Amino acid sequence: MNITTTGGQDLGLDLAAFPAGFVWGAATAAYQIEGAANEGGRGPSIWDTFAHTPGRTLRGDTGDTACDHYHRWESDLDLVAELGLTAYRLSLSWSRLQPAGRGPLNPKAIAFYRQLLAGLRERGVRPFVTLYHWDLPQPLEDAGGWPMRATAERFAAYAGRVVAELGDLADDWVTLNEPWCSALLGYGTGKHAPGRTSYPDAVAAAHHLNLAHGLAVLRMREQRPGIRVGVTHLITDVVPASSAPADLAAAARTDADNNLMFLDPVLRGGYPDTVYDLYARYGLRELVRPTDEQTIATPIDFLGVNHYQQIIVSHDDAEPHLGAKAVPAEPATTSLRWSVKPESLRNVLLRIATDYPALPLYVTENGASFDDHVDHRGQVVDPERIDYLRGYFQAAAQAVREGVDLQGYFVWSLMDNFEWAEGYSKRFGLIYVDYSTQRRTPKASAGWYRYVITRHTRTV
Ligand code: NOJ
Repeated sequence: MNITTTGGQDLGLDLAAFPAGFVWGAATAAYQIEGAANEGGRGPSIWDTFAHTPGRTLRGDTGDTACDHYHRWESDLDLVAELGLTAYRLSLSWSRLQPAGRGPLNPKAIAFYRQLLAGLRERGVRPFVTLYHWDLPQPLEDAGGWPMRATAERFAAYAGRVVAELGDLADDWVTLNEPWCSALLGYGTGKHAPGRTSYPDAVAAAHHLNLAHGLAVLRMREQRPGIRVGVTHLITDVVPASSAPADLAAAARTDADNNLMFLDPVLRGGYPDTVYDLYARYGLRELVRPTDEQTIATPIDFLGVNHYQQIIVSHDDAEPHLGAKAVPAEPATTSLRWSVKPESLRNVLLRIATDYPALPLYVTENGASFDDHVDHRGQVVDPERIDYLRGYFQAAAQAVREGVDLQGYFVWSLMDNFEWAEGYSKRFGLIYVDYSTQRRTPKASAGWYRYVITRHTRTV
């Protein structure tokens, strides 16, 4: 399959801003692409249970087959190489590697991931491996899930074992992907697995995810002191709808919940008072044991920033959790109605670099869903995605010019995949997937991205 390089034109991008060795990647996650849900000794995760529960995902879509990447990994890695990516971010399925959530790892899963990681290295692509991208083994949810402290300990044990088995094949590791989603969407709004709706549980989950990260870093380093370890957070640019004190306060609460509850304990040694005060009613202080904050703040090598949205927030008494609501994005521009405001990426990168200095950053996810289709010539032409990426790359370039230590950028996603509660209806890929045939068609944006990467290599 050929990826057509869109070349020759002025990219409208300050590529020289990005340093030599800058990592250009794309990202995926296990449950969203692998399929083979009942193969190779894999056990159920909370996402299997959730997706199989009527009414939970759009049209009842599940990840049973997804992109069938479990069987097609070799040709998928060929596409990664054809795209010219210098890195690829993937996640491991915990319930494939350790179906019970405890005990020895499943040899078939180790073999699968060893060949995948080795395949990337053979193609000259640097793997960034995420240990947890939302797919908790169901037995651990049955035992109480993330609101239970024991789950953090289980995760750390899993992380240590995985790094012992696979750490020779990857240098760059991410403990958790977007724990805000796991905690607040999984246990608060119930929009994600396991679909529970208790804010006290959501906040307990958030603390135990933070703790899981810290304990895991310690375990992983014990196994392999040479690896680089980071964590990936969803960082939303929260903007107050007006300068009215009530809107300013609503935005501050939203920022505390979305961002500070995860950044400060990892990077500043503990939860700020804004978070303690906000969640006093859910008993946050009582959950935090004396050495937890020290554990969570174990130094890391880099921070992964997933950035998608700026949200404009106003006060709303009717909203029980934060007393805040997001004003609908105007004009809504992606097929998920997410705002397209490239400057918000610059805002979050500068904010992190200012508030948590001396920490290498990666954009571990950024991208957009559009209603792509294969045209009569068999091509997928997606100029909106090219414009989107150009805007956000340029915002990142500006942040680098302003001193941010940004070391890489991963587009979400390598290919269209299972978009959680939205099922297969939302397409984020650089590569189009026809789910009835599993045919892959690189979109025009894939060719454009390849051209960016080549040009950058020639520029610096
Ligand atoms: C972030 C998540 O990590 C990823 O799994 C998801 O598909 C994208 N956001 C798009 O919503």
